[in-house]
Amino acid sequence: VLPNKYEATAVASPKQASARCQEEVKFKEVMVYLVEKKMGRSRRNFLTSLARSKGFRVDDVLSDEVTHVVAEDNQAGGLWSWLREQGLRDISKVQVLDISWFTESMREGRPVTVESRHHIQVRDFDALEVLAESSEFNENEGRCLAFRRAASVLKSLPSAVRSLGATQGLPCLGEHTEAVIEEILQFGRCFKVEEIQCDERYQALKLFTSVFGVGPKTAEKWYRRGLRSFKEILNEPAIQLNKMQRAGFLYYRDISKTVSKAEAQALRCIIEETVHWIMPDAILALTGGFRRGKEYGHDVDFLVTTPELGREEGLLLHVIDRLQDQGILLYCEHQGTTFDATKLPSCNFEAMDHFEKCFLIVRLYEDQVEGGLQRNPGDSRAWRAIRVDLVVPPVDRYATALLGWTGSRQFVRDLRRFARKERRMLFDNHALYDKTKKMFLSTTTEEDIFVHLGLEYVEPWQRNA
Ligand code: UTP
Ligand code: MN
Repeated sequence: VLPNKYEATAVASPKQASARCQEEVKFKEVMVYLVEKKMGRSRRNFLTSLARSKGFRVDDVLSDEVTHVVAEDNQAGGLWSWLREQGLRDISKVQVLDISWFTESMREGRPVTVESRHHIQVRDFDALEVLAESSEFNENEGRCLAFRRAASVLKSLPSAVRSLGATQGLPCLGEHTEAVIEEILQFGRCFKVEEIQCDERYQALKLFTSVFGVGPKTAEKWYRRGLRSFKEILNEPAIQLNKMQRAGFLYYRDISKTVSKAEAQALRCIIEETVHWIMPDAILALTGGFRRGKEYGHDVDFLVTTPELGREEGLLLHVIDRLQDQGILLYCEHQGTTFDATKLPSCNFEAMDHFEKCFLIVRLYEDQVEGGLQRNPGDSRAWRAIRVDLVVPPVDRYATALLGWTGSRQFVRDLRRFARKERRMLFDNHALYDKTKKMFLSTTTEEDIFVHLGLEYVEPWQRNA
C-alpha cells in the first residue's frame, strides 16, 4: 500500500505533522482536491484545514488518488480544459464538483452523496452562447442569431437535455446545434467550442468588449494593432479612449461584476426618490432583466415618463443634475430625443430607439443595500459603482417602450418576427403598426400589444428565454 499524499506531507513537515497527527482520517474512500483558481490561496488553505479537521483527506496536488475535485466560481469549460491538461490516468472516474458539495459535506461532517446539481458540467446553452459570440465577432449575424435562438430554446426547457431524442420536435435547432448537443452528450464537451475558447482573437475580443463603451469594431481595431491585454491598451500612446471607455476602464472591476436584486432594489429607491422630488406624479418603472425577475443583471434599467404628454421634456436633465448634487454620479452620457413620429413605422428594429435617455454609472453605498453590497474579496470600500440606464419615452409610447426595454432581447426579437410574419404587423419601441389596415394601433398597456397580436399575455418573468 502506497502512503497517501496526506501522510507524505505530514512526514515532510514536522511542524504541520504534530498538528495533523490528531486529525484522524475518517473517509478513506474520498480524496478531495480543491482548485485554487478563483478560490485563492488563503481560502484554499483554510478549507483544507477545515476538511482535514473533520476527517477528510485533502490532496495538495492533483494526483490519480483524487476522487473529488472541488472548484468555486469556475467556468465549466475552462475548468474541464485545465483538468484534461493535468494528465490524470482516468478523468472520467473523478467527480468534478461545485463548492456547494464541499460546504454541505462540511456541515454534515461527512461526504454527502453527490447529486447532479453538484456537478460542474459544460451546459449546452453555454456552448451555444460561445458559438454565437464567435459568429458575432466574425460578423456572421445570421449564424449568431441562429445559435442565440437555439440557446434560448434550450434554456427554456424545464430540465437539461439528457438524450438526443429529447430534442425531437423542438423548434429552432439547426444541424450545427444538434451536432453540438450530440458531442456534449457523448463527451461532456464540445471540441469546436474549446477551440474557440483557446483562440487568441476570440479571447482578446471577448476581453475588450467586456469594457463599457467598447464594441466589436473597436475591439477588432485594437486586436489588429497587436494589443492583447488592458495593460497594453492603456500603455499605448496612440490609442485615444473616449469618455465612455475611460469610465469603462476606471470602474471596470465594479461594473464587470453582476448586480444583485437587492442592489437593483436600492437603486430603484434612489432613482424613485430623485424623480419624485422633481415631479411627484412622474411614472417610474424598473425594466430589463430585473423586471423579468432575474436575480442578477449587468446593469439596472428604468423607464421614466409623465402622465401628461410633453411634461417629460427637461425632466431627465433635472434628474441628472439632482444625482450630480447628491455626489453619486460617476459617469453620465445624455442623449437627447431623436424621436420623429412622421418617420414611423420603422423597419430597422435592431437599431437603438429614439427616446431621450442617459447611460450612467452611479455610486451605491453599502448601507443603502439590504444585506449589504456584493464585495470583491479584500475590498473595504463602503460603495460600489453600478451601471444604470434611464429612458424617457413620451407617455403615448410608454407601452411599446416598456415591452422593448423589459426584453429579453430574444423574446422581443421573436415577438417582432411573429408580428411581421404571422400578423403583417410591425412594432418596435415606438409604435405598433398594422400593414393590412395601414394604421397605427393604440397601445396604453403591454396587455394591449398582446391583444392586438392575438396572443395570450406573457408575464415579464416568462419572457426570459
Ligand atoms: P439589457 O442589455 O440591459 O439586458 O437591455 P437585460 O435583459 O436587462 O439583461 P442584463 O441583466 O442587464 O444583462 C434590456 C432590454 O432593453 C432593450 C434590450 O433589447 C433588452 O431587451 N433595449 C436596449 C432597447 O430596447 N433599446 C436599446 O437601445 C437598448
Ligand atoms: Mn439590464
